[in-house]
Parts: sequence; structure tokens; C-alpha cells
Amino acid sequence: MKFCGLFIRVLRDSNFECDRSKKGLSNYKMDKIVIRGGNKLSGEVVISGSKNSALPILFATLLTDEPAKINNVPSLDDINTTLLFLNFIGKKTVKKKNTVEVYSSESRLYKYIAPYDLVRKMRASILIMGPLLARLKKVYVSLPGGCAIGARPIDIHLEAFEKLGAEISVESGYVRTFAKGGLKGTTINLRFPSVGATENVLLTAVLVEGKTIITNAACEPEIEDLAIVLNKMGAKVTGAGTKNIVIEGVRELHGFEHNIIPDRIEAATYIIAAAITKGEIVLKEVIPQHLKSINDKLKKSGLYIKELGNKIYVKWIKDLEPQNIKTGVYPEFPTDVQAQWMTLMCLIKGESSIKENVFENRFLHVAELRRFGADISVNGRVVNIKGVEKFSGASVIVSDLRAGAALILAGLAARGTTTVSRVYHLDRGYDMLEKKLKELGADIRRVFS
Ligand code: EPZ
Repeated sequence: MKFCGLFIRVLRDSNFECDRSKKGLSNYKMDKIVIRGGNKLSGEVVISGSKNSALPILFATLLTDEPAKINNVPSLDDINTTLLFLNFIGKKTVKKKNTVEVYSSESRLYKYIAPYDLVRKMRASILIMGPLLARLKKVYVSLPGGCAIGARPIDIHLEAFEKLGAEISVESGYVRTFAKGGLKGTTINLRFPSVGATENVLLTAVLVEGKTIITNAACEPEIEDLAIVLNKMGAKVTGAGTKNIVIEGVRELHGFEHNIIPDRIEAATYIIAAAITKGEIVLKEVIPQHLKSINDKLKKSGLYIKELGNKIYVKWIKDLEPQNIKTGVYPEFPTDVQAQWMTLMCLIKGESSIKENVFENRFLHVAELRRFGADISVNGRVVNIKGVEKFSGASVIVSDLRAGAALILAGLAARGTTTVSRVYHLDRGYDMLEKKLKELGADIRRVFS
């Protein structure tokens, strides 16, 4: 594909403007984080904007040629990747601290391809399909391939596009989606409430003639945030946040300004960090309702949690009790907090279990947690944990974003020094992680390669 080379060159030639430093792509992969464990966290932490809300909303800018302004965007590698991708497609993007402005280039021409190198790096790139299918009536996307947490196919996305009238062919690793005969609103039942598929259908149906109804839709808060943006653009979406979403297609969409909702997964990670270090912290700029399933379990376990408007006060007051969890789609316990929860349960006296119902292979952090001294057994999608007295610092390797968070939490609680490698996974989804933890009293530093 002729575009691939161009995109790869764009990706390689650009420096990722990020908190680490202005480095090329080559050596940042060797950065490590070193933690001397045992400090109790205390103080205040401001939660950043949600990565999983910002990404679909950035792709929604492809639905209009008018300018968009998005506030409270976290500074993350996945955001940088998405901005580079939008530039490659034909948009102009400007990121100033936590605000992103997106404009159309003079040509107003958009490329219609998501190359393998990009989709492999960031699965959310497949969210290009919805907007470009709606506007250009064709889009080529590299098959995403599996990743550390499972096969993660895109069959649900493709079935939905076919229901809308698209034709799909797979050739040399690319999915080519066309809508030569145009698209027509219809009822689409998702066999699984896939977050990405719900978002992709929304990003198409808003510009498709007629009424589209999504049944068994994902209900995550990030879906609601996307629908709010689409309606600000002039779309007609109702029911977002419930299992049934109704979209009345319109002819064109307009620019918008929006503030991204807080990152509920980042917030949950800091709450667990306070619990595991027996600390006392206040989280600011959060939406407590988005964390209900997690906080209910933590309160049951004995952690003191008080929701105060857009703040959450957390204090460890006594030894916690083990709690069993089963991950599920929102509002169940989120799979993106499963790894962090596992670390906490490993250091609580007694036995507990975790059932992972969303991904088929999301236990890669188990082997690394055992290096700290964890006592965990894996049986298919179920993990059984026997709490141990303490963790000893260890050298560990991050396999994926949330597994990385689990290892950082283990290092904070462990006696001695922990060295965490492949921290670039963390840079995809945690904004200023070391800085925020250091300000809470952790003995943590990044060693640049
Ligand atoms: C989103 O991924 C999130 N990513 C993930 O967060 C999150 O873990 C996941 O939703 C579940 O909540 C973003 O929002 C960018 P899915 P997504 O489609 O949309 C299967 C993080 O750490 N499936 O809801 O890719 C799939 O294999 C990331 O921030 C199909 O079989 O998740 C998985 O088992 C990790 N066919 C399950 O559904 C499909 O066509 C849930 O996937 C699509 C999905």
C-alpha cells in the first residue's frame, strides 16, 4: 500500500512531544521506572481526562470540515499517535498542554487508510472506519492482529457495517470497506456490547440517511461522552449510556468544543495505590458515579471512601478483607482495573478469586506478580489468590498498559527496590504517572535509556 510507507515515515520522523523528553522512537523503549517501596501515599492528585473518551472524540473530528476544540485531553502516547494519524489522514492538529484543536487542511482531502504499523500500535485506530465510511464511502484498515490481552478481532464492527449496507473484502491483511450503493439506517444488534464497535457504529450512523438503532450497545461513560459531542456537532443521538441507542441520520455535522470526562481507570488506580500503601489521599476532578462498582467492593473490603462532589477522599483505616470479583461490561467491575485489583488482593490476608469475563488472555501480570512473592493460581479465566504477608522488590517487565499499573502498585507496596522495564506501555495511558505518585510521597523515578 503506497500510503503505508508515507505514514511510517511520518511516524518515525516525528518526535513524540511528551513528558519523557524529546526523543526519537528508537530509544524510549528502554526507559525504566525504579521504586523504593514502603512509603504511605498522602496528599491530593488531580485526575486527567479519559484516554478512552478522548480517542473516539478525536476520530469524530473526521466527521466535519469545521474546527474542533477539545479540552482536558491527557498527555499520552496514544493521544500523540492519534494526532499524528489525523495529520496523516488530512487534518491539522495543534496540542497546547491539555487542549487539542483540529482543523481541516486547505485541500479538505482525506486519505482513507489505517496502516498496519499504526493499527498494531494502537487498536483504537480502527475508529477511523466509522467516520471515513460515512464521509468517503470507503476505508482500508489493516487487520489489527492480536495483542497482549487477546485476539481482539473486529468481526462485530464489520457485521455492523454490513448491516448498514457496506461491502467488505479482506485482501493482503487489509479490510476494505466500501459503501458504493450508499448506507441506510437499520437496527443493529451487537452480539457482545463491544465498546469500540458501539463507537464505530455511532461514528457512521450519525451521517447515514434514516434511523439506526443499536441494541445490546455498550453503556460505558465514554460512549455517553462521545454521544454528547456528536449531538453538539448537530447529530441526533438518544439513549447513549443504555443498551439501546437511537440515531437519526443528518446531512452534515459541525465543529464543536468539549471538555473530556475524567479518566475513571486512572482514578481507580490511584485509589488502589492509597489502599495498598495504607495511605490517605484525595482525588480531584473525578466523577464518583463512574467508579461505583470498584468503590463498592473496596468499601466492603474495609477501605474508608467518601465521595464529595467531584472529589473522592480515601483513607486506609484497618486491614482489608479479601473480596472476589468478576469483571464485566459497564456498570460491572471494569476489566481495565482487574490487574490493579489483583495486586491489592495479593497482599490481603485470606483467599480471593478473580473471574475475567471480557478478555480471554488478561493475566500476563500474574507471572510478574509472582516475582514479588505473590501466591496466585490460574485456571482458565479464573485466578485464585492467597494473600501473603509482604512483597519483596523485584525486577519486572510490563506486558500491557494495565498490567504495568499493577506492577507499579506492587513496587509501591514492596519492601526494597523494584525496577520496572518496558514502561512505554504505561506512557500510553497514564498521564505524568511518576510525577503524580512522587507528589503523593512515593519514592519513584524514571531512568532514561
Ligand atoms: C475498549 O477496547 C477499551 N479501549 C479497552 O481499554 C477496554 O478494556 C475495553 O473497551 C473493554 O472495556 C478503548 O476504549 C480505546 P471491546 P475495545 O470491543 O473497544 C471482543 C485500556 O486499557 N470483541 O469492548 O477494543 C474483544 O476481543 C484498554 O484502556 C470481538 O470479539 O474493547 C474483547 O474480548 C484495554 N469482536 C471483548 O469483545 C469485535 O469485533 C471486548 O472488546 C470487538 C470486540
